[in-house]
Amino acid sequence: SIICIEAKGKVKAKAKKTYITKNSSGAYNVLGTIVVNKKYGLSKDYTYKNNKQMFDKATNAFNKMQQDAQKDGINLYIISRYRSYSLQKWLYAKYKSESKDVDTFSAKAGYSEHQTGLAFDLNDSKTSVRDSFEFTDAYKWLKENAYKYGFILRYPKGKSDITGYKFEPWHYRYVGTELSYKLKDQTTTLEEYLNICK
Ligand code: DAL
Ligand code: ZN
Repeated sequence: SIICIEAKGKVKAKAKKTYITKNSSGAYNVLGTIVVNKKYGLSKDYTYKNNKQMFDKATNAFNKMQQDAQKDGINLYIISRYRSYSLQKWLYAKYKSESKDVDTFSAKAGYSEHQTGLAFDLNDSKTSVRDSFEFTDAYKWLKENAYKYGFILRYPKGKSDITGYKFEPWHYRYVGTELSYKLKDQTTTLEEYLNICK
């Protein structure tokens, strides 16, 4: 399991001697990558506009990926992308009222990657996300191609002790191609690569 080296909220990253810091927009950052998980959250008023440049890069990358998938006969639809603090708060409360294990699949407000606008929940039809997405051609296509556009599968199978969440075949995080190529095997999580705790 992951070895987290931490001292007063600072985490020593794996490869280079750098530390988790808060960037000017108010998000935690390791080696230039925004990190949001159960430990590292965002303020109430953080929106996708706080990192509009990255948000726009993610939009362009997704559009290109969607077009290329289409050429291979694969439909990709965004079911959910940016979620404000208040929307996440509402969503978490709704799930909590319906389920005992809400924390295995939903972030509390302020701790969702969706608040950055860099997380994309995908499906091959315009319905809601679904576990069975794992068995679709669209999932297979993403497994083979998503990294080429800068996306990683954020919550892989068998990694819930590290990410804090159960396998989500639909949730992709834009990190840029430099990092996505390094994580293209989809077995190393962001937490492991950056050596951060959850
Ligand atoms: N489902 C993911 C973990 C979220 O709520 O952000
Ligand atoms: Zn998601």
